[in-house]
Amino acid sequence: MCGIIGYIGSRSCPELIYQGLEKLEYRGYDSAGIAVISSGQITTVKAAGKLARLRPFMGGLPAAAHIGMGHTRWATHGEPSDENAHPHGEAGASVIHNGIIENYKELKLELIAQGVSFKSETDTEVILHLLLAELQKGTSVHMALLKLLPQLQGAFSLGIMNRDEPEALYLVKQGSPLVIGCGKDETFFASDPLPLIPYCQHFLFLEDGEFARITRAGAEVWNFAGVQQEKPAVTMDWDSAAAEKNGFNHYMLKEIHEQPQMFSSTISRHLDLHTNSLILDHLGLDKIDLAQVKRLHFVACGSAYYAALVGKYLMETLPQFPCDVELASEFRYREPFIGPDTLVIAVSQSGETADTLASVKYARAKGCQTLALCNVKFSSIPRECHSAFYMEAGPEIGVASTKAFTSMLLNLYIFSLGLARLRHTLSAEALAQHLSQLKLLPPLAAQALAQDKNIATYALQFLHETHCLFIGRGFSYAIALEGALKLKEISYIHGEGYAGGELKHGPIALIEKSLAVIAVVPRDKLYDKMLANIEEIRARKGRIIAITSGNDPHLAQTCEAVLSCPAIDNPCLQAVLSSMILQQFAYYVALHRGTDVDQPRNLAKSVTVE
Ligand code: F6R
Repeated sequence: MCGIIGYIGSRSCPELIYQGLEKLEYRGYDSAGIAVISSGQITTVKAAGKLARLRPFMGGLPAAAHIGMGHTRWATHGEPSDENAHPHGEAGASVIHNGIIENYKELKLELIAQGVSFKSETDTEVILHLLLAELQKGTSVHMALLKLLPQLQGAFSLGIMNRDEPEALYLVKQGSPLVIGCGKDETFFASDPLPLIPYCQHFLFLEDGEFARITRAGAEVWNFAGVQQEKPAVTMDWDSAAAEKNGFNHYMLKEIHEQPQMFSSTISRHLDLHTNSLILDHLGLDKIDLAQVKRLHFVACGSAYYAALVGKYLMETLPQFPCDVELASEFRYREPFIGPDTLVIAVSQSGETADTLASVKYARAKGCQTLALCNVKFSSIPRECHSAFYMEAGPEIGVASTKAFTSMLLNLYIFSLGLARLRHTLSAEALAQHLSQLKLLPPLAAQALAQDKNIATYALQFLHETHCLFIGRGFSYAIALEGALKLKEISYIHGEGYAGGELKHGPIALIEKSLAVIAVVPRDKLYDKMLANIEEIRARKGRIIAITSGNDPHLAQTCEAVLSCPAIDNPCLQAVLSSMILQQFAYYVALHRGTDVDQPRNLAKSVTVE
């Protein structure tokens, strides 16, 4: 939530920072702003609304400036307005912030009692005034930070600019992400490496409780006690084209279409195609003492939680581990029955979700082993876990998760097969059969995408719905939950996911002739149970849209619409394919309704505050 970026070097920086903010906008888009230093002056432009609203003000920044920083906001304290937009600054200094200062009210009252007046409603402005109070006494930024940082509670990644030190920027990391990018005679910082990929390959990841001074020559890092820290640089060779739209109208559509290729490369990383055997090297198990593990506990949020629900079914049937799955926001505040015999698996695309990160810390404190299933390398969650298993799905920029969700399903499947092999819970023949089925996924996924015209056409009939139900059983239950989330977050149509068996326990009261029920009905062992649910809905005149596997003449006759999905006799892979149909359905409904598909209202891609 909120994206921050900064630059110091010899390039003209206003446009560079603006373009970096474009790459960070998925983290928040309530307002944006940029501050630069030039000729001993700090100049700031900011505007409420999406980044494009800042464009007309860019001419107000001196083009020659070669030191600056920018911010794109997801509002926590104070409505999205020009005043509340970052950077916050007086003539002498400027601050950008990602996170929440939990004790800002006390600090603000103290500052007001000392005669300070505030221009914004943000928590961030207290940091500015605490800093200015020190600078006015002649204290250096370094010494001021050592004094003020212990006063702040909460999460805060900060960028700080001081007019009297125009060849340096200061950065602080506590709880929210921050990375420094090292170029040749130029240094960058940002909330994540994505906007820096065109400029540098070497990165320094600050840890919580550290602050840094960057100049064009590089970075010096200290902890909050003032002790200098050694930071090894890590090299990342991401392809910057992977973060572009590449001819698609939306990132979401591009990411939906990347799935067949993504599945192929995932499968070839974990499968020796010649010998049809599993490669165990990339599963992150090398640092896990499997002999100690008696049970598994997934923690995750949102779509990642739904993927973990599928993970539970897999872990119980394939490696036969007792397995729990829990929302990270609940787990971290409970007293779960976990200990050294529990492997806690944190599932997260971004690797930065605050509740999931806090859950990992909590699990470690309880003596559990921890493993991250993440997409973004070197992000906070994998760095906090004992071990990491990377999904390698490539950058996901659309705020609604698509390819990362199906990548989680596929990687959880592969992971469960790996565990089953190590625990000898699958015969060699059964394992070989799973692996052979895996190879069928990429072409079937391409067939699922070929349904897009039918789906787009049906979506036109769905435009004016106000609410609907999604139902499924078994693996399709998680897919129904995910389908409902996808539809509501980008089209703003209210959708609720239910297990088919739960209909009679309440939601059936909603069924009447105007209610649409989207039923995920693959031909699996629960097919007949789903048909019974469909009959119950029909008997009450509800409308049914079925997501089937292959041709299903019976459903074609009984349902208002059938969105057909390629069939595969494997519940997890079928779930991947059904999910792709529902992603396209949500996309086309949202597109026809004219909502902002890639940046839906009120959301941010990376939820770094709780
Ligand atoms: C929904 C969506 C969110 C995320 C959730 C967790 O489309 O994207 O529900 O799944 O915020 O995010 P990560 O996986 O980054 O921890």
